[in-house]
Parts: sequence; structure tokens; C-alpha cells
Amino acid sequence: MDSTRRYRLSCLLQGIVLTVVCDAWTVEIPKKISALQDSCVVIPCTFSYSSNPPQSFIAVWYQYASRGYPVVYDGRNPSSVIDKFRGRTVLVGDVSDRNCSLKINSITRNDNGEKLYPWIDPDHISYRVYTFYDKTVELAVSDYADSPEISVLGTAVNGSSVRITCSTVHTCPASPPIFIWNYTGDSVSSHHEHQSNGRWKSTSVLTLTSSRNDDSREMTCKVQHPGGKTASSITLYAPKDVSVFLDNRAIKEGTAVILKCVSDGNPEPQHYQWSQTRGRKTIDLNNDTQLLEISNVRRDSVYSCTAHNGLGNKKSEPVTLPVECKYMSILRSMLMCMSNNSDSRTE
Ligand SMILES: *[C@@H]1O[C@H](CO)[C@@H](O)[C@H](O)[C@H]1NC(C)=O
Ligand SMILES: *[C@@H]1O[C@H](CO)[C@@H](O)[C@H](O)[C@H]1NC(C)=O
Ligand SMILES: *[C@@H]1O[C@H](CO)[C@@H](O)[C@H](O)[C@H]1NC(C)=O
Ligand SMILES: *[C@@H]1O[C@H](CO)[C@@H](O)[C@H](O)[C@H]1NC(C)=O
Ligand SMILES: *[C@@H]1O[C@H](CO)[C@@H](O)[C@H](O)[C@H]1NC(C)=O
Repeated sequence: MDSTRRYRLSCLLQGIVLTVVCDAWTVEIPKKISALQDSCVVIPCTFSYSSNPPQSFIAVWYQYASRGYPVVYDGRNPSSVIDKFRGRTVLVGDVSDRNCSLKINSITRNDNGEKLYPWIDPDHISYRVYTFYDKTVELAVSDYADSPEISVLGTAVNGSSVRITCSTVHTCPASPPIFIWNYTGDSVSSHHEHQSNGRWKSTSVLTLTSSRNDDSREMTCKVQHPGGKTASSITLYAPKDVSVFLDNRAIKEGTAVILKCVSDGNPEPQHYQWSQTRGRKTIDLNNDTQLLEISNVRRDSVYSCTAHNGLGNKKSEPVTLPVECKYMSILRSMLMCMSNNSDSRTE
């Protein structure tokens, strides 16, 4: 109501200042909408008016043509619909609620490039009141489904649960796509949200609790659209091939060295754990970084790292650093050092 009043006022003001005739009517439809072959498309459509109200709440859809008015949808006279669209179009909007949304089923490659427009109460609202055919929506038909996006929310480092989401965008909210996971989680849920201009985002969420720890988790999700088109996501997998990498070959005892935890995982691991073993004593270094700096290397330390990426974790083999003896001049130390080094090499 308020916006109608404001609209009238602005029309009036413009009328006074510029003496232009304002459109009393507006129709809102997207300029272009994508549609997937074999699936459906719902074209969002709303309208408003400040004068010349419709006498009956009827919406008819037409194909934009240089000649005539080929009918795409007419609820009063379905047989008037041109062959191309007959039996495939349904008005899903409530016209008395100013909603003229149209659903087209079984999209074909031939629908690509079609320009359509609605006409509200065509028997009473003349093109002189509003040129309905000046605003059209173009169908952009795709013959393949896009791969869904898969991602991991949260890391199971502490035994909390992890959610894997799989989502895709589509324009058939009347029958949203279904998601198929090739991995059994603790629960699966899905939701759909409108983005804009008739584009919807559907998301499936797979929840995993880390109590059931399976470190070789590997999964994909597949989306299946109405009409049967499918697409698969990339494959996610827990870290594998985890190893401790060090740059310098020869490390002098007492100097600083940086170790790197190298692994293969998708998504890339985000959390790391390091442990250090000296003799029989193993300690967890409280360091969640991929790089570990050790500022005073000793010859008797062994290191290993664990990489986490939410799907699982894997620990590397322990690594003995090739540390060179500090006091090379002292024969005793040197001999001991050599024997220690040769011991570790033969391991
Ligand atoms: C119009 O109707 C469609 C189909 O029922 C609905 O999804 C959409 O939300 C409606 N639009 C508005 C603006 O109410
Ligand atoms: C794990 O738990 C510890 C304490 O229990 C907390 O300090 C740490 O932030 C948690 N880490 C994550 C990744 O949730
Ligand atoms: C899921 O599919 C991917 C890709 O085909 C495969 O690598 C993975 O092993 C499958 N996971 C399970 C649990 O079958
Ligand atoms: C972990 O090691 C890195 C590299 O040496 C260092 O910058 C960081 O402060 C350390 N973090 C903790 C928590 O010790
Ligand atoms: C290695 O060196 C340490 C001293 O740094 C020594 O106590 C130990 O006996 C040596 N180990 C071997 C196997 O020679």
C-alpha cells in the first residue's frame, strides 16, 4: 500500500515537472534464466500496478515473436498453446497475490534462446496501459549438469563432529535435485534456499562423528536432477602419504632446523600434531602448524607428525634427523658420533 502511494506521488511529481506519463504497471521477471535439459524451470514473475487494476486475475504467457502472439500458457484455453509448449507449462504463482510465476517441464535443447513474457488480464489490460512484450525472459538451456561443490566444515581433531556439505545451484525448485553420497554418515539432511532471479541453491549435509574413526575415508557426492541428469563432485579423502620433510641434508648439532609435515589429502590438511621421542620418552609438541622449528637440534631425537583434514588423520613414520656431531675435533665424540650415525642409517 505504502509503496503504491509513494509511486503515485512520484508519478504525480514527475507529471508536474516533466509532464511524462508514468507506467501504472510493472512486471518483474529475470532477463535471462538458465534451465537444465530434461528438468524443469520455474520463472519467477511478479507484477504491481497503481491504476488500471485487472478485472480478472488471469495471467497468460506468450512467446516473443515478431508477428502475432503465440501462446505458451493459457489456463482458460490450453489448446491455444503452441505445440512446442503444449502440456509442458503450468502457472505456479497465485495471480491474485500478484504472482505470475510459470513452470515449464521437460526442458529441451530447442527451448534455448526462447524469449517469453506474461500478460496479466489480456482481455482488459491493453498494450496502451502497459507494453507487456517489452520485458521478456530468455531461456538459456544447458545439456549437462554442473558438478556439485563439496566441502568440509570443522575438523575432527577433538572428537567433535564433522559436516560435509554438497551443494548445487538450479532453477527447478518444484522438484529439487536429490543427492547421493557413496559414504554412510551418521545423518544426512538437506535444505534449499532462493538466491536471486529464480536461482536456487540446494545443499545436502552429511554428518560424521569421529567416534567411528575410519582413517581411509574417501567419498564423493552425486547430484541427480529431475529428468535424470547427474553430476559428481570431486572425491574427498583423508590424508595419506604423510611424511616429515627437511630441507638441509646435513644438520649441525645445536643449530636450528625446520621440519615440514608433507601429506596428500583433499581438502588439504589444516591441522597438524608433532611428537618428539628421545630415548624412551615421547612428548607431544604443542604445535598445530605444518612447519616445526627446532632451535637446538640434538642427535638423539626422533620426530613424527600427524596431518588432519576433518575426514581423518594419519601419522608419518618417525624420522631420525641426520645430525652431525658438534665437536668434531674431539676424537672420542667423533667416534661415538660416527657410530651413532651409522646406526641410524642402517635402520
Ligand atoms: C510466487 O510463487 C512461487 C510459486 O508458488 C513462489 O515460489 C514464490 O515465492 C512466489 N513469489 C513471491 C514474490 O511471493
Ligand atoms: C581441542 O580441545 C582443546 C581443549 O580441550 C582446545 O584448547 C582446542 O582449541 C580444541 N581444538 C579444536 C581444533 O577444536
Ligand atoms: C566413492 O567414490 C570415489 C570415486 O569414485 C571412490 O574413490 C571412493 O572409494 C568411493 N567411496 C566409497 C566408500 O565407496
Ligand atoms: C609452532 O612452530 C612454529 C614454527 O616454528 C612457530 O612459529 C609457532 O609459534 C609454534 N606454535 C606453537 C603453539 O608452539
Ligand atoms: C650414541 O651417543 C650417545 C651420546 O650422545 C651415547 O650415550 C650412546 O651410547 C651412543 N649410542 C650408540 C649406539 O653408540
